[in-house]
Amino acid sequence: MSISGGHPFRVLAVAGARPNFMKIAPLLRELRAREGFEPILVHTGQHYDAAMSESFFRDLGIPEPDLNLGVGSGSHGAQTAQVLQLMEEVLVERRPDVVLVVGDVNSTLAATLAAVKLGIPVGHVEAGLRSFDRSMPEEINRILTDSISEWLFVTEPAGVENLKREGVADEKIHRVGNVMIDTLQAHLARARELDTLERLGLEPRTYAVLTLHRPSNVDDPESLRRLFAVLEEIDQRIPIVFPVHPRTRDAIARLLSGEPPSLHMLDPLGYLEFLRLMADARLVLTDSGGIQEETTVLGVPCLTLRENTERPITVTDGTNTIVGTDPAVIRAEVDKILAGENRPGRIPDGWDGSAAGRIVDVLEAALRGDAA
Ligand code: UD1
Repeated sequence: MSISGGHPFRVLAVAGARPNFMKIAPLLRELRAREGFEPILVHTGQHYDAAMSESFFRDLGIPEPDLNLGVGSGSHGAQTAQVLQLMEEVLVERRPDVVLVVGDVNSTLAATLAAVKLGIPVGHVEAGLRSFDRSMPEEINRILTDSISEWLFVTEPAGVENLKREGVADEKIHRVGNVMIDTLQAHLARARELDTLERLGLEPRTYAVLTLHRPSNVDDPESLRRLFAVLEEIDQRIPIVFPVHPRTRDAIARLLSGEPPSLHMLDPLGYLEFLRLMADARLVLTDSGGIQEETTVLGVPCLTLRENTERPITVTDGTNTIVGTDPAVIRAEVDKILAGENRPGRIPDGWDGSAAGRIVDVLEAALRGDAA
């Protein structure tokens, strides 16, 4: 039985880059499990390496995308424009009732724009986050995507406040929790069974994990050198394991004359292996958004190598500290953690493994209403 009594509701879900895959996985599972929905998955192809894309589909049991737009890398303008153009063709052909986008990458914005111009309403998962730093490409993507979406699914109270301040109507804002944590909870037990630590010769709580890929950190040789200098120093006290993002690998080759830092560099890891590594780390150093949230839920101290965060609840309630890129500050905060001065933190409300269900509830109610 379909919920409209006629055709099933067609929900076209979009994923493009690595941090999208763990967010789209629980939504697709939920849509497939319910009667009356016909989910379609479109991969934009923004991320295309096996280690950045395929391995996540495998690890997370995401079905093969119905379509892959294959846009690949390019300048912001070129990448966004390509998704916009190709997505429009897909939407005209597939005629979904709703488009569901996640996160803040170029694919998120481009797919939203294509849909809204065709009169197709968009649900944005992870809406309302703001770093208030417009030099970050993601901040522009967030503001624009939120301003034209119909359903704004929010992870934390600051997101609700930001949207209200921007004049978004209350009825569009839904604080539903965090789908990325749905995925973490669904896979943590399996991740803990992996032999990742044994393979890398590591003991629990005796190593740090580093990730680095923000343009502001890795696209400038001086910033990169300065960061690596302090990280090499820290590595003398606690070994730093560093799975390297392709953007960062390219930057090291191009900007540092191919002289890699003397850290324990690895290729990018799959979702489960990285989760295993993070769960047993003494501390995590990162400029990622999602990792700030995952470490809060795992209770692992996180030092964020940026000047700001769009996820303030990880600082007020969780285990995250914003340290920027000043070597003295980074050193001092690492010292505190190694001396055992950790904040245990608490898991924010709604980061409970059931966020995708709440999102699909909202869509189902709205679509039933529309059909009546
Ligand atoms: C993108 C997102 C960022 C997210 C990050 C996670 C935008 C604006 N940025 O940044 O928010 O945190 O993904 O990874 O959408 N590359 C490969 N193989 C790949 C993908 C990328 O080699 O599979 C290399 C290419 O050299 C490419 C560069 O990485 O030019 C950057 O990729 P891109 O998708 O433009 O941005 P990210 O830095 O990955």
